[in-house]
Amino acid sequence: MNIVFLGAPGSGKGTQAQKLATNRGLFHLSTGDLLRTAVKNGSPLGQKIRQYLDAGNLVPDDVIIGLIEEQADAGNLSNGFILDGFPRSQAQAEGLDRMLTKHHMHIDHVVLISVDDSVIRQRLLRRAELEGRSDDNEATITHRLKVYRNQTEPLVTYYRDRGLLRTIDGDQTPDDVFAALSAVLRNGTTA
Ligand code: AP5
Ligand code: MG
Repeated sequence: MNIVFLGAPGSGKGTQAQKLATNRGLFHLSTGDLLRTAVKNGSPLGQKIRQYLDAGNLVPDDVIIGLIEEQADAGNLSNGFILDGFPRSQAQAEGLDRMLTKHHMHIDHVVLISVDDSVIRQRLLRRAELEGRSDDNEATITHRLKVYRNQTEPLVTYYRDRGLLRTIDGDQTPDDVFAALSAVLRNGTTA
């Protein structure tokens, strides 16, 4: 099964993707995690990437599509995958379609985790206290939400038009969100 998670920053994509990957033996690919690892490694590319992450801006599409292509070429996507935080722009969605066609694969479900901005702010400010992620502060959270609205949210229509969109309410306990997720994957309900 091949799944894409869509949702605003802090909607719970990472939490649910991790759970589902363990539960079903799927490959969990988080572009945010890959990028944070690149930053930690301190390579010249990592240095450049850090500026985008800290500002809450999207890393350029060609860099991201390159990262995903590496994973596909390495065969990591062949036995079922969850994409968490990718695609995030129209160009990335089209890049993904091309890549999947090349590898004779397709997307089964695009799951949109829906959560109000006010709840998201609370979650991310709380995480700032616990983990200190460099982009979890008031100003950058506001900017990340704006970037989501402008660049990523149009993909909701993109995938709805293809009959792939499943929407779940992300403002419940993580276990209840997971139950809702399992139900839409079972029924393939379109929303
Ligand atoms: P990325 O790492 O993808 O961050 P994000 O989209 O901002 O989302 P988060 O990871 O903050 O939230 P999440 O939805 O995964 O929720 P989580 O489960 O963690 O991207 C970071 C940056 O990398 C981007 O700004 C950009 O610069 C760059 N980037 C990444 N991908 C890119 C791409 N494709 N193209 C270009 N640039 C890209 O939960 C959040 C918090 O809430 C946690 O503390 C969690 O414990 C808590 N929580 C989760 N679920 C619940 C629940 N049900 N109830 C209460 N609390 C909950
Ligand atoms: Mg995440």
